[in-house]
Amino acid sequence: MSTRADFSGLFAHRASLRGGDELAAILAGVPDGVLPLTGGFPNAATFPTDVLGDIAARVLRDEPGLALQYTPVEGIASVREYLSDRLEALQGARPEALMVTSGGMECLALACSAFLDPGDTVCVEGPTYLGALMAFRGAEADIVEIEMDADGLVVEALAERLEGGLRPKFLYVIPEYQNPTGRTLPLERREALVELCRRFGVPVLEDVAYRELAWGASPLPTLWSLAPDVVVQAGTFSKIFFPGVRLGWAAGPPEIVAQLAAAKANTDQCAGALGQRMLEEYGRGGHFETSLPRACELYGSHWRALDGALRASMPDGVTWTQPTGGFLTWVELPDGLDAMELRDAALEAGVAYVPGAPFYAGDAGANTLRLSFSALDEADLAEAGRRLGSVLADAL
Ligand SMILES: Cc1ncc(COP(=O)(O)O)c(C=O)c1O
Repeated sequence: MSTRADFSGLFAHRASLRGGDELAAILAGVPDGVLPLTGGFPNAATFPTDVLGDIAARVLRDEPGLALQYTPVEGIASVREYLSDRLEALQGARPEALMVTSGGMECLALACSAFLDPGDTVCVEGPTYLGALMAFRGAEADIVEIEMDADGLVVEALAERLEGGLRPKFLYVIPEYQNPTGRTLPLERREALVELCRRFGVPVLEDVAYRELAWGASPLPTLWSLAPDVVVQAGTFSKIFFPGVRLGWAAGPPEIVAQLAAAKANTDQCAGALGQRMLEEYGRGGHFETSLPRACELYGSHWRALDGALRASMPDGVTWTQPTGGFLTWVELPDGLDAMELRDAALEAGVAYVPGAPFYAGDAGANTLRLSFSALDEADLAEAGRRLGSVLADAL
């Protein structure tokens, strides 16, 4: 029998930098009997299966030559038109340039390809989205974390770094219901942030993944609508339509969007036409106007159930954020407790969470963890909160 060849010495240096064990663990799911507060997945009850069935049948019958074909790199013209109309209606500004992407994650990958040479600096919120950290690490970037407080990114902290000579290729920021903290950046900070970045010529990559899932106060102006000259908005339909469609958008300064499109020509060349046309039909048919309020209501109700359980069960010294949208909250344990070490005890008690440390570029966050309340119903969320409370009480 021949032995298998060993390819392990052939992989690129960057392949060893990405990390991703934590993301793989999230995607792998949890054992039976364990209540998951892990994945930032939308609730499957929000997937509009009936309407989608009708739209898919119609599109396949009437326009196979468009919906089953390749598309231009930037997306189907009518779809881009729809997305521009939609941004104008929702955010009060019309993009100078917009392209369709294969999900929000691809926007980040395209930004890496367009902007980053090995050793270049990227600024991020500390903590931030794991997928973004993996993408920036994979691009061999030097990731500089800017501190956050209860209101999100501390703009003065970024100002100090820029005034001190730091020159990032871009700043990556998630202004609403941030992953992983659930925090939202207030209006004054948004205005100060874009002004600062404009002054220093630092492009802002604004990720609005959860923005439309607001159940509390109405959303604030996007960074992009405040400063379309310095902000590229990365959007996704994963949380408000369905992730299986793998569709998103990048909107911003034309010279940047052109570079992102050039990068896309080197990856999948175009987002799937069938999904693009289904999304356009769904949106133009007015379905978001009915489905989004329902999704917001669902996640708001889930949040109230989890928050109630945490209030009832968490030992003194444990705090958690109060999101007004999205489906994530961030828990801080008293110093000395390590969420990574407590994970097995939690699994044994029948509840799973994501330890917070992997969301930091550096080595902070041992005493933090992220909870997602999208998937479980209210009764299971109450039970999950109770289980987590008793694990932490035991640990203390
Ligand atoms: C902040 C943020 N950005 C982007 C993404 C990725 O979106 P997509 O599934 O569209 O690639 C996620 C997914 O969890 C996310 O939380």
